[in-house]
Amino acid sequence: MVSKICLMACKNGFYFAEKILPHLNRFLKDANYSEISLTKTDEVQFRNTEIKSNILESIRGSHVFIVQDVSNKSNGYSVSDNVLALKTLINSARISDAFKITVILPTFPFARQDKHFSREGITARMFAQELEMLGVNTVITLDIHNLAIAGFFNKTVFENLKGFRDLNKYVKQNLPLENLVVSSPDIGGLKRAENYASELKINLVSIYKERNYKKIDAIDKMYVIGDVKNKDVLLVDDMIDTGGTLFNAAKLLKEKGANKIYFACSLPFLNPPSKERFDSLYKDGILEYLIATNAVYHTQEFLENTPWFKQVDVSDYFAKVIFNIFTYKSISNLLKNIKS
Ligand code: R5P
Repeated sequence: MVSKICLMACKNGFYFAEKILPHLNRFLKDANYSEISLTKTDEVQFRNTEIKSNILESIRGSHVFIVQDVSNKSNGYSVSDNVLALKTLINSARISDAFKITVILPTFPFARQDKHFSREGITARMFAQELEMLGVNTVITLDIHNLAIAGFFNKTVFENLKGFRDLNKYVKQNLPLENLVVSSPDIGGLKRAENYASELKINLVSIYKERNYKKIDAIDKMYVIGDVKNKDVLLVDDMIDTGGTLFNAAKLLKEKGANKIYFACSLPFLNPPSKERFDSLYKDGILEYLIATNAVYHTQEFLENTPWFKQVDVSDYFAKVIFNIFTYKSISNLLKNIKS
């Protein structure tokens, strides 16, 4: 028997959960299930910065889907606060006798701390183990930086959705394709860019990037591999943190004779100084615009006043995956043929 479904959110996951809800209700209704509201929860941060979560309705026997956007810092929370809020809500659900717990993390924290390197911690693995220990059955995320992170889980099911699905739809509908080539800003992202090349039937070029890991946000060298002279270029990356990679890549492509430059990205964190960097690229006529998903929260004010930012909504996609997981249906047709 399929249990009852509950959708709830930590404070900073509300924005995305509210986006998911109407789509999920559409799928539920079409399959003759009752429509749902967000399950009521309460999250407080005490003066000493501890966080407490409480579920205000019975969820006994339900499949609970918890949404948390760890990158949303709009209420003053840090990523670490958001992670703690998530863990406290998972624990509330577990000890309130949820049948199953699925965590929806549009952005997976610590994803770039994924390898054994000198004496650094492998924090992505530590976080995966914590989720598992808390009793999480399934994790749903978008374009994880390194798919090997799935292997940090032993029992928890890990589903990695692909921003490409909706970003590519936008590119197809809005960009002139005749003169377009796609590029990755580094060799690591080549497979991601290849998806666009094969789907849009356009050429693929790449950039070789050498980072200076002794410094934060420092790139030593960049070379273009391929011809971009008089071409429009779609530069594709999984995430934008400080914007340094795409800023330098765009300037280099322009030097090599590129015409119009577009960025596409699943996780637009746009931490400082990205905005200043992209404002200046836009002002100098180097950047046309950035196409990015709403997996990362941005304020209405930012969305209305940033002419180079085009947002693509992936909440419908998440809702479909949630519905299929709830009803034990396959999701492979929602992930198929997309390399990451
Ligand atoms: C690197 O491997 C990633 O794919 C991104 O290119 C990188 O994390 C972006 O960081 P930033 O915007 O700070 O250059």
